[in-house]
Amino acid sequence: MVVRLLMKPTCVLCSLLGLLAFVVAGQCTHSPEPDQRWMLPPGWVSLGRVDPEEELSLTFALKQQNVERLSELVQAVSDPSSPRYGKYLTLEDVSELVRPSQLTFHTVHKWLSAAGARNCRSVVTQDFLTCRLSVWQAEQLLPGAEFHRYVGGPAETRVVRSPHPYQLPQALAPHVDFVGGLHRFPPISSLRQRPEPQGVETVGLHMGVTPSVLRQRYNLTAQDVGSGTTNNSQACAQFLEQYFHNSDLSVFMRLFGGGFAHHTSVARVVGKQGRGRAGIEASLDVEYLMSAGANISTWVYTSPGRHEAQEPFLQWLLLLSNESTLPHVHTVSYGDDEDSLSSIYMQRVNTEFMKAAARGLTLLFASGDSGAGCLSVSRRYKFRPSFPASSPYVTTVGGTSFKNPFLITDEVVDYISGGGFSNIFPQPSYQEEAVAQFLKSSAHLPPSSYFNASGRAYPDVAALSDGYWVVINKIPTPWVSGTSASTPVFGGILSLINEHRILNGRPPLGFLNPRLYQQHGTGLYDVTRGCHKSCLNEEVEGQGFCSGPGWDPVTGWGTPNFPALLKTLLNP
Ligand SMILES: *[C@@H]1O[C@H](CO)[C@@H](O)[C@H](O)[C@H]1NC(C)=O
Ligand SMILES: *[C@@H]1O[C@H](CO)[C@@H](O)[C@H](O)[C@H]1NC(C)=O
Ligand SMILES: *[C@@H]1O[C@H](CO)[C@@H](O)[C@H](O)[C@H]1NC(C)=O
Ligand SMILES: *[C@@H]1O[C@H](CO)[C@@H](O)[C@H](O)[C@H]1NC(C)=O
Ligand SMILES: *[C@@H]1O[C@H](CO)[C@@H](O)[C@H](O)[C@H]1NC(C)=O
Repeated sequence: MVVRLLMKPTCVLCSLLGLLAFVVAGQCTHSPEPDQRWMLPPGWVSLGRVDPEEELSLTFALKQQNVERLSELVQAVSDPSSPRYGKYLTLEDVSELVRPSQLTFHTVHKWLSAAGARNCRSVVTQDFLTCRLSVWQAEQLLPGAEFHRYVGGPAETRVVRSPHPYQLPQALAPHVDFVGGLHRFPPISSLRQRPEPQGVETVGLHMGVTPSVLRQRYNLTAQDVGSGTTNNSQACAQFLEQYFHNSDLSVFMRLFGGGFAHHTSVARVVGKQGRGRAGIEASLDVEYLMSAGANISTWVYTSPGRHEAQEPFLQWLLLLSNESTLPHVHTVSYGDDEDSLSSIYMQRVNTEFMKAAARGLTLLFASGDSGAGCLSVSRRYKFRPSFPASSPYVTTVGGTSFKNPFLITDEVVDYISGGGFSNIFPQPSYQEEAVAQFLKSSAHLPPSSYFNASGRAYPDVAALSDGYWVVINKIPTPWVSGTSASTPVFGGILSLINEHRILNGRPPLGFLNPRLYQQHGTGLYDVTRGCHKSCLNEEVEGQGFCSGPGWDPVTGWGTPNFPALLKTLLNP
């Protein structure tokens, strides 16, 4: 047998030091994100290489400590049967626990300052650094990287990214998880206007989903609003270079805000609100968070990436780690295919969600609008999970439709409702029983090669996602659909429950999933009819999973029945 040595001897030496090693300019390096996909998203074009003298702002994710301990604490504060339930950590406690070691801190600082990095800014937890460098310095610092400018997206956004993977010196491997601002593009919203349902006699029926339709379906009365006597607050975040207009919110509330007390402006805008036209996603989030969680102080995070080389979602995570007092509930419309993101990035973002959970923040993510999704690799098909929907530390919201689109009836699956099984995150123990029950009892299970039954399964809950009215640039717009609609509705309802908990001297709900699964979805309407979409091939014929009694990976445990949900979540 002949063993051929394909690598240079120095490279073999590097390999002995670490798994993925290369030699660049005589230096051992490693690739922190070898599985990060590089692909120019549709609708983006390159404007060529960036001038070497231009300034960049890059984000360095420093290796944290005690992540195991953090996950135990999250379990303890989120499990109603634990003596620590609801005894949340402060941001300072979290910082004590996870902040990088002195060695990490000094090694990274030395490396960055030797490269000429300036104005490095950290966060309270000290596990991120954002620094300014010239393009030339950044390309020296991160061998392989080459910065180009791109323009695209609905708002003709400009970003600076590297089409080639970057390396880090081998010595930095134990200290840096990844560098942000090189590869990932701003996400695109899949929210859309669907055609109006045809051929239905509509006299005397409702003509689409409005706050009063939602409040009626979910049993909210005029008294179910924020009292104005607590510090309760909620937030929505989106990262699409989209803006909402306060004038749209007032038109919306004038048209649709009758019958319940509400605020007509947001309490705080975090990030840059451009002067462009309002976006459908941003308008929807604000209008429905503020009419479900009515009369509750509301914050909006809007495109917080201030520089072309920043990733807005990452910047939002940094903001969470840099403020000790934050709204209790956050609803987020951001999602990417798991297979497009590096595993180290997803693992690290997941740890950021743990940090939030330990502090008692509730993070809700839309489950996505592609059903089970579809990925074809060399003519073999499988479903395509989406992240952060697939994180075990967030509550993921799917979507439903009315059985009769013009009547307030029972809900059925909205075929777009994202759901499935993660290929990255193992199934958390809180959902093992529910998932096993589903796999055992579902009459329409897709072939097992299409999904990873041992992964984190989502969504956890659902709400209506079909046929919303939204006011955009002063124009009422009907038939807007997507799980970005159901997410703020569910978030607003949880804020109303927090309001009662705070008035009762209880801590806010925090990370809901352990409790939700322990209680087997009590207080939710179980959605038992319909399937969501997936691959269009002969094997599955466009069908993914189907909902049934109990939890399912299409609508989770179901949609809120406010009085029942309040009753079951009020104490302890
Ligand atoms: C975090 O907050 C501090 C204090 O307000 C600020 O100086 C720092 O620049 C912030 N960090 C980042 C990354 O924005
Ligand atoms: C809530 O509404 C449903 C119908 O939408 C109704 O059956 C139920 O009795 C209502 N009240 C409670 C407390 O569940
Ligand atoms: C709504 O909130 C305001 C304070 O923001 C408060 O004065 C008012 O009483 C609240 N409305 C109801 C119906 O609770
Ligand atoms: C409300 O917020 C203020 C300032 O953040 C804080 O001092 C106060 O204790 C809070 N009150 C309640 C009831 O949480
Ligand atoms: C299935 O999920 C587990 C984690 O839950 C992961 O380790 C494994 O690689 C996944 N399998 C595939 C084929 O993606």
